[in-house]
Amino acid sequence: MSSPVPPLPTAELHVHIEGTLEPELAFSLAARNGTRLRYAHLDALRRAYSFTDLQSFLDLYYELTAVLQRPEDFADLAEAYFTRAAAQGVRHAEVFVDPQAHTGRGVPLEVVMEGLGEAFRRAEARHGLSARLIACFLRDRDPAEAEDLLPRLLPYRDLVIGVGLDSAEVGFPPELFERVFARAADEGLHRVAHAGEEGPPAYVWSALDRLGVERVDHGNRSLEDPSLVARLREEQVPLTVCPLSNLALRSIDRLDAHPLRRMLDAGLAATVNSDDPAYFGGYLHDNVAAVTRALGLTDGHRRRLAENSFRASFLPEADKERHLAALAAARS
Ligand code: HPA
Ligand code: ZN
Repeated sequence: MSSPVPPLPTAELHVHIEGTLEPELAFSLAARNGTRLRYAHLDALRRAYSFTDLQSFLDLYYELTAVLQRPEDFADLAEAYFTRAAAQGVRHAEVFVDPQAHTGRGVPLEVVMEGLGEAFRRAEARHGLSARLIACFLRDRDPAEAEDLLPRLLPYRDLVIGVGLDSAEVGFPPELFERVFARAADEGLHRVAHAGEEGPPAYVWSALDRLGVERVDHGNRSLEDPSLVARLREEQVPLTVCPLSNLALRSIDRLDAHPLRRMLDAGLAATVNSDDPAYFGGYLHDNVAAVTRALGLTDGHRRRLAENSFRASFLPEADKERHLAALAAARS
């Protein structure tokens, strides 16, 4: 996607590493590992990247994890994401990983962490981008699995700075995960959760009040509840909004109906992110450029989005200030 506006330095706070698997890389990893895919050729797989809702996407997303087998597969995946993200202005990334999507098919957590760790540790030198992981629990699986996983993440504290909650939302409210989030808080981990993507405003309330989340991932349906909007504004709870994802998964029909501008106008701490960029048609700046066109965003809006991203990050204060100064010096 070509972009008429140059990218600003930005933090990406909502991107799933498994969702950065481009069809070409899926095919080459399948060949390298001898993994059978049910797509005869690349174009057939490309055509499958078309969805009707969250579940239709998740089915393909989990299916294709089959090509990720060895540490180098995870390292190559992350390396490809960093290359694209850096070209789109990303200077810091807090990246989701779904450990259960790998351990559940027999790939040990150690393999995932070894591969990702290698790419994440060299990202600053290679791409001028700092990167950390947020391990997400799959909300459509037994919360006991999440409770077993949490202590196994603790040896990777240099890399894993927090926990999140993702996968199929409706029917799996945040409060099911209250105990594991409380334990994560006791361990000093950051906490975020997907809420209000397809689920109702009640799930956003629950993520805030029962899980103690510091950011809400998506949060779009919060706008249906004025008292929730007031809470999010007063506390400046960051929302990690993903416009091309919302369009691809049909929570909106057209990008000009996207709530991002209404969120900004309501004084909410919204940020723009790519979610699963290989599947939804664009990386971070592709999202910014698309909403700029569709919603008529100004330079001022774009600067606010970039500022919000650094403020909403889990970086130390001194690093936030350094990034905000670089942003202030960047041309629009
Ligand atoms: N929503 C919920 N779970 C996910 C998503 C998403 O957009 N992407 C990957 N897992
Ligand atoms: Zn997501």
